[in-house]
Amino acid sequence: MNILLTGGAGFIGSHTCVEFINSGYDVVIADDLSNSKPKVIDRIEEITGKRPKFYKVDVSDRLAAEQIFKENKIDAVVHFAGYKAVGESCAKPLMYYRNNIDSALTMLELMEEYGVNSFIFSSSATVYGADADIPYVEGMPTGGCTNPYGWTKHMIEQILRDAAAANEKLSVILLRYFNPIGAHPSGKIGEDPSGIPNNLLPYITQVASGRLKELGVFGNDYDTHDGTGVRDYIHVCDLADGHVLAAEYASKHRGVEEINLGTGVGYSVLDVVNAFEQANDIKIPYVIKPRRDGDLPEYYADAKKAGEVLGWSAKRDLKTMCRDSWNWQKNNPNGYGD
Ligand code: UFG
Repeated sequence: MNILLTGGAGFIGSHTCVEFINSGYDVVIADDLSNSKPKVIDRIEEITGKRPKFYKVDVSDRLAAEQIFKENKIDAVVHFAGYKAVGESCAKPLMYYRNNIDSALTMLELMEEYGVNSFIFSSSATVYGADADIPYVEGMPTGGCTNPYGWTKHMIEQILRDAAAANEKLSVILLRYFNPIGAHPSGKIGEDPSGIPNNLLPYITQVASGRLKELGVFGNDYDTHDGTGVRDYIHVCDLADGHVLAAEYASKHRGVEEINLGTGVGYSVLDVVNAFEQANDIKIPYVIKPRRDGDLPEYYADAKKAGEVLGWSAKRDLKTMCRDSWNWQKNNPNGYGD
């Protein structure tokens, strides 16, 4: 099977590419490199011994993207491409709606034209919105998102449901990610944010490497076990495995499945700091800061459906996630930019 990964040079895309190649698939990556580096492709080849075919393409550019479908017999599309920074989406909502929705629509149109029937979508736990009960279960209503980024995920999910209702051949899996961290154990690929990281683990690893002075913990007065925010952190390699199983499932079924990819366990910011310190024997200095706008106190997945439908469950624990995140950062202090 030939899998097209849009945004395949990004953090989750690159790890997923490795798992697809290791599972015997042929992979084509389409990425405009707006938030990733070409070196990723070399690293994927170093890990797997196989070089994925690569197109430097903005997948909302229909003419350019069509070339991929003309030149390759694609069996399934895994659609990662999209802008993903929550704060930026509040500052530039139109850019987010235009880019994220356009690229999904373009892929769907091309799939229809070229008879491709499996679509795996990078969705997010953020679609459950601010008022959902925890744990988040797939059958819950979605919406009430707190930022334009989250709304683009919610809207694309709806577009996909409508597209599948009108095309009985289409198979859609909406993978709702919780908080992906960690890195490939080789230390050759990992998360490489530009500028000062927004997310917790890249921030911690840059404190560990001395690039940043101390971690700011956003709030310690939430109604959680230690007052700091609680999330469901999942190893990016577990997440990647979920995509391979989703593509296998999609090739044999029709219709739409929403599936959480999380561990089902919530850890606080201080739990993560402690786990990182223990896993790597490095002290992480931190200071308590005010709450960050838009943050929810606590959420984690009900992870049962992924087991029932895909036969998937997360295998790697928090310590492994912290060890692998540090292994990547330590070996690549400037990310791919060396
Ligand atoms: N945090 C800190 N200090 C930091 C960074 C984060 O204390 O410097 C805290 C946050 O307040 C939160 C937790 O660490 O409690 C996790 O924050 P992240 O920024 O790592 O992740 P979020 O849960 O805020 O966001 C993630 C994804 C988004 C997605 C969102 C909802 O990064 O893309 O989950 O699914 F929208």
